[in-house]
Amino acid sequence: MSKVVAVVGATGAVGREMLATLERRSFPIARLVALASPRSAGQRLPFAGGELVVEALGPGSFVGVDLALFSAGASVSREYGPIAAAAGALVVDNSSAWRMDPGCPLVVPEVNLEAARVRPRGIIANPNCSPIQMVVALKPLHDAARLKHIVVSTYQATSGKGHAAVEDLLQQTRASLAGQPVAPSVFPGEIAFNLLCDWTAGEDDYSEEEWKMVRETRKILGDDAIGVSPTTVRVPVVSAHSESIHAQFHRPMRADEAKALLRGAEGVVLMDEPYAPGNHPQPRQAAGTDPVYVGRLRDDLAVPGAINMWVVSDNLRKGAALHAVQLAERLLL
Ligand code: A2P
Repeated sequence: MSKVVAVVGATGAVGREMLATLERRSFPIARLVALASPRSAGQRLPFAGGELVVEALGPGSFVGVDLALFSAGASVSREYGPIAAAAGALVVDNSSAWRMDPGCPLVVPEVNLEAARVRPRGIIANPNCSPIQMVVALKPLHDAARLKHIVVSTYQATSGKGHAAVEDLLQQTRASLAGQPVAPSVFPGEIAFNLLCDWTAGEDDYSEEEWKMVRETRKILGDDAIGVSPTTVRVPVVSAHSESIHAQFHRPMRADEAKALLRGAEGVVLMDEPYAPGNHPQPRQAAGTDPVYVGRLRDDLAVPGAINMWVVSDNLRKGAALHAVQLAERLLL
């Protein structure tokens, strides 16, 4: 019953959250292997009242491993994911490496768990954090009225770019407050007291991050006809992504019906009290918690049968570590 688990990228922002999630959820662990780059070999990480000694990732790291959780970037996943799978591990990969590979299911447990059962490469891809929280919120509505078009703007936290990105935000903030010159180290510009549209170019003047919203949403929901119009923005928040979503359906959806569908939906907390300042999902409150919070659910003022909503969730938890562990729980335990 107990499993041998490897966490690849254990010293990183998501990797540390993976360790915390395994501990918090009492995942049955026979042995836990913390893997990172050779730079971190020998470093000690707290786990379950004791310490793990970090090992350098190598081709022999996966012998006897039942479950390998990867969060060390796409190039590491491309190289070592197949090695872990060949060694017999169930691989849950948090990077972008395998998401659009036809041989790898792209899975959100609340949405398309059945897709995880067919995995020719032995690798399951964890979607990007932003589509995860969006599809968890939209799936019950999609089942009822079939999504036609989504217009989504994201307000993404810095921790989605890793530990060093959070440090960059904090350092820039301190420099700004002290009236000193700001010297970005991870972000391509000032993120403190500022917003940055995501900067890695994709196609047609949309960023890579925006294309993830389009392609991953369609793959998870299994419907390439869904229109997705994304704008992805990085905000000076440490953890928890927020999204403004406008959704149109093949049959009219009313806010009241959407609320009824989302009340009690798996993984969702609906905040549907009447509008009042501050009475809506906020990243500061969502950070460090598991649910996808849905609030400000309104009928659109101009498009009959369309709704608008505000969706907030911890990108390190539901957007990454919790999500990966939930998948493993459902497939292995
Ligand atoms: P390390 O701390 O040794 O650099 P983050 O997303 O917070 O930036 O973390 C990235 C994670 O991926 C870290 O645990 C980092 O380890 C790990 N990592 C980066 N490059 C490699 C690599 N080539 N081999 C193994 N782990 C790596």
